[in-house]
Amino acid sequence: MCGIFGCVLKDGNAAPLIHAALKRLEYRGYDSVGEATLFEGKLYVKKDRGMIDEVHKVHNLDDLPGTIGVGHTRWATHGAPLEVNAHPHVDCSGQIAVVHNGIIENFSELKLELENRGHTFQSKTDTEVIAHLIEETLKANPSLSLADAVLETVKKLEGSYAVAALSQREPDKIVCVRNESPLVVGINENAIYCASDIPAFLPLTNKAVIIDDGEIVILSLKGYEIKKIADSSLVSREPKLIDWSPEMAVKQGYPHFMLKEIHEQPECLRNTLRVQEHYIDLMSSFLDRARECFLVACGTSYHACLASSYMFSKLAFLATYPVIASEFVEQHGKSVNIDSTILAVSQSGETTDTLAALNCARQRAATVLGLTNAIGSTLTRISRVYICQQSGPEIGVAATKTFTSQLSVLAQLALGLAKKRGKISQDEMDFLKEKLKKLPATVETIIQTQEEKMKQIAKKYKDAKGFFFLGRGISTATAYEGRLKLMEIAYVPAIAFPAGESKHGPISLVEPGFPVVFICPKDETYKTLIGNIMEMKARGASIIAVIEEGDEEVRRLADDYVEVPKGIPEVLSPIPFVIPLQLLAYYMAIERGHTPDTPRNLAKSVTVK
Ligand code: F6R
Repeated sequence: MCGIFGCVLKDGNAAPLIHAALKRLEYRGYDSVGEATLFEGKLYVKKDRGMIDEVHKVHNLDDLPGTIGVGHTRWATHGAPLEVNAHPHVDCSGQIAVVHNGIIENFSELKLELENRGHTFQSKTDTEVIAHLIEETLKANPSLSLADAVLETVKKLEGSYAVAALSQREPDKIVCVRNESPLVVGINENAIYCASDIPAFLPLTNKAVIIDDGEIVILSLKGYEIKKIADSSLVSREPKLIDWSPEMAVKQGYPHFMLKEIHEQPECLRNTLRVQEHYIDLMSSFLDRARECFLVACGTSYHACLASSYMFSKLAFLATYPVIASEFVEQHGKSVNIDSTILAVSQSGETTDTLAALNCARQRAATVLGLTNAIGSTLTRISRVYICQQSGPEIGVAATKTFTSQLSVLAQLALGLAKKRGKISQDEMDFLKEKLKKLPATVETIIQTQEEKMKQIAKKYKDAKGFFFLGRGISTATAYEGRLKLMEIAYVPAIAFPAGESKHGPISLVEPGFPVVFICPKDETYKTLIGNIMEMKARGASIIAVIEEGDEEVRRLADDYVEVPKGIPEVLSPIPFVIPLQLLAYYMAIERGHTPDTPRNLAKSVTVK
């Protein structure tokens, strides 16, 4: 998984603009970076391993000449993060450069074939075959245009790709192709851009054209021309106006995107309440009709699914099966059928594991529904119905605002389904809708009143070697999410499980001072949870509790606590209760000297299996 960018400018220098765009794409990968530009008929390339700022310091990415160029920020899949493996990759003659996001599955065969024809490879990447294939195609038929050569080339490729190619022979064009990896085009009066996603060019233009799988697009100062790869037929597609302001894609004064995004949650939750009723209604009709219903996702999105399985059960009396996407095919692939419905939840809409589960389900004629933050993503295109969660771009690698938005949409969906099935009284419905409306303000209050406290708690526990996160009922999902956040950005080993499981094994890890975080809403599980807190306390654990305001009982037991406002219904509780856990992870990362926006070994959108 990587980020690609390209631009053709009327005037000015492409290189600094590419550099800035790659910074906005850094969340997609950041182990190497590179740029290629064309100037006076000659190709110039700079690239190296390392994060963009490091590479820029050594090589000055901004001084490549020319008004046209491409760039790449990498997350290694084939070949270690080394200078030779960084993109752009060039052909033998050094005249053609390509950047690529995705995986070419048959690259070994292609490479062997090309080597037998005399091509010399510099890197261990799958991408380099693309440059050599274009070269080979043009060698065999010199009258072909770059676009035609790219067309011929991609017909030989198996796998996923968003590619942007440049050639000295046609120094006014960038040719891009897409299959199963995201690609968008941006346009204004002075330039045209291609990128892995919209925030890359959002400060430059808000006019975007989404490129579909199986399409090639040729960019020049004349505009863009889209064709189908299969038959070269022309596709006509107007740009869409994107209403994300450029400011939404920068840090707005916060030290990190993650903190900014934690603070944006009240606003996102307000936007989420604007999800159109008829989509909720349509999706709940599909859920109502399903004989079996799977909730499929990865990571944080899976935790949203897990929480929603309690919502669907408690509100609409619908049993659903939350499944981690990478396990779906093995676990349910054979049994899923025309009567099954799969609701996939994916912030990016591009997560390969999730899409693979959906492909399997679609082959077996199951109904696919989607919840995503990315309109135009693969998930939106393959779903019978999809809902956009309206969180705006999330740059921090760790999901925060998109998690609470997912929970809000899923709660609305569970309510819609409860209504359709006649499982909810009018009073209960009105009560829950009112509470949902108040959640943005509740979250605002939590951030305002508890952030400083969490900062202090993080200071106190910064050297802890491990953590437990425990909850019961729907709070189990909150505990899982708190644990994932702490692990992924603060690099603290942590375990989460339903509190009732402690005595079946994990409690043996507890020794004096071991920090255990308890999620303690005053719901039906509260009394039993107190018992679990006592068990941990008796073994010397340090109890950090997330409690409802004024909960004296847990307050007395806890070593440290943070409070959320009273009176939040159980089914909505993960939204406010996860906020202090996001802050804990953020401040633990800071205390331990880590960069929360770009945790090591991770990337925002995981497009490999
Ligand atoms: C964790 C995180 C990941 C993603 C997961 C799924 O903070 O962000 O665990 O939730 O990679 O991504 P999407 O939702 O894009 O499918």
